[in-house]
Amino acid sequence: MAERKPVLITPEQLAQQRHFAALVSVMENRPRSYHVVTYGCQMNAHDSEKLSGMLADMGMDEAPTREDADFVIFNTCCVRDNAERRALGNVTWLKEVRKKNPNLIIAVCGCMIQQPGMAERILKQYKFIDLAFGTSNLWKLPELLHRTLNSDRAVVVVEDEDTIAEDLPLRRLRTDAAYITIMYGCDNFCSYCIVPYVRGRERSRDPEAILAEARALYESGVKEIMLLGQNVNSYGKGLENGMNFPELLRQLDAIGIPRIRFMTSHPKDLSDELIAVLGEAKHILPQFHLPVQHGNDEVLRRMNRRYTREQYLDKVRKLRAAVPGIGLTTDIIVGFPGETEEQFEETLSIVEEVGYDSAFTFIYSPRTGTVAAGMEDQIPEDVATDRIKRLIAVQEAGQRKAMARFLGTEEEVLVEGLSRRSDKAVSGHGRHGVSITFPGTEADIGQIVRVRVTEMKNNTLMAERI
Ligand code: SAH
Ligand code: SF4
Ligand code: F3S
Repeated sequence: MAERKPVLITPEQLAQQRHFAALVSVMENRPRSYHVVTYGCQMNAHDSEKLSGMLADMGMDEAPTREDADFVIFNTCCVRDNAERRALGNVTWLKEVRKKNPNLIIAVCGCMIQQPGMAERILKQYKFIDLAFGTSNLWKLPELLHRTLNSDRAVVVVEDEDTIAEDLPLRRLRTDAAYITIMYGCDNFCSYCIVPYVRGRERSRDPEAILAEARALYESGVKEIMLLGQNVNSYGKGLENGMNFPELLRQLDAIGIPRIRFMTSHPKDLSDELIAVLGEAKHILPQFHLPVQHGNDEVLRRMNRRYTREQYLDKVRKLRAAVPGIGLTTDIIVGFPGETEEQFEETLSIVEEVGYDSAFTFIYSPRTGTVAAGMEDQIPEDVATDRIKRLIAVQEAGQRKAMARFLGTEEEVLVEGLSRRSDKAVSGHGRHGVSITFPGTEADIGQIVRVRVTEMKNNTLMAERI
């Protein structure tokens, strides 16, 4: 693949967008309310906060549901086929809503739209869509909406550029915890994965911009930040100032925000320097999401993961030595093309060996344009379904064992909301990343509370206040 340079969106370009936003905000036929529907990962959730920010700047209020909104935008994911189908199903359903609200504007953006040829398909098959744009054009929403309102035809814009846009308007979902993107895109090209094709080449944000954002959040009282990137470990690649992820973490740790998390880490780029920082830092939480994907070396090789089972296990040992009790979580794929029963059993055994606090398990889904989609010996659905069931059983047993280490220990929970089971209890995540429920009221939401773990219930720990 040819070298591509990141495209930095200039302050002048952003000023132009603010100008478009001002134009839209006084148009007679402008939508008065918006609703953003988000699919996919945290990166998309954070992009949706930017979409909301731009829409609020255009004088629109957030509508509680999509049925109440004049402008509905779907921020889509295409990492697996079911993610894509769900999004398209919901967009189609809105066609019915339009019959009641003829002014409804339907927009679709995100990873699904960034796929080659998708924009044309959208135009042909889904004639009721008014606006579609890819991940690289997100910052242009004011201009694109302005164009949509002035046109009888659908506006479709997908550019193949690796943009970085700083200082976009932002409407954060939470006031106690915040996302900060540190890098965009991915260069790893795991053979099953579409993300590098729809998020572009890897590029890192300027560390000063990241630190300034973190300091502002600290001053506003934010208790937790989550650093985002498809491969945060390789942060800094291509930057001129020699900054890398461990050094960025050190500087963020010094600000004083009580809780710092990050995702996702690629095992091949998890360095000893990073492990050392985790051991020394004050505010970086003792948790680590380390996707293993598979337990067999031959499958890992064909997945283009560039580590072996033994190398992965070695990193796990080092993490546990540096941060005793660290909460480990992972992603696993079953049914990769050519996966034999014996190879699959090595996934079961690595899950047993590590003992994860939780795992996201997926059936392999062929993605057009990726290397694995062209591999022979795709695994039949019934075999894959059987394997994922067995994997989940092994993972759940391991999880129960792993969670037992928390019984009787003290934890600090950032309270996220009332418990789903009782309005006299609240829940949130402990420092190790596990969900914890304990007696409390609405007044606790957004606070960090010390508790003692008393009991284990399914995926949740029950606790009492100290
Ligand atoms: N950059 C992150 C997240 C990528 S997407 C990482 O490297 O881990 C999140 C997860 O989706 C991946 O970890 C992988 O387990 C899963 N995934 C990606 N492509 C997939 C596919 N084609 N079929 C099934 N699962 C997939
Ligand atoms: Fe996809 Fe691999 Fe990049 Fe993760 S590291 S986004 S799985 S290509
Ligand atoms: Fe999906 Fe795009 Fe994230 S494909 S998983 S929303 S990067």
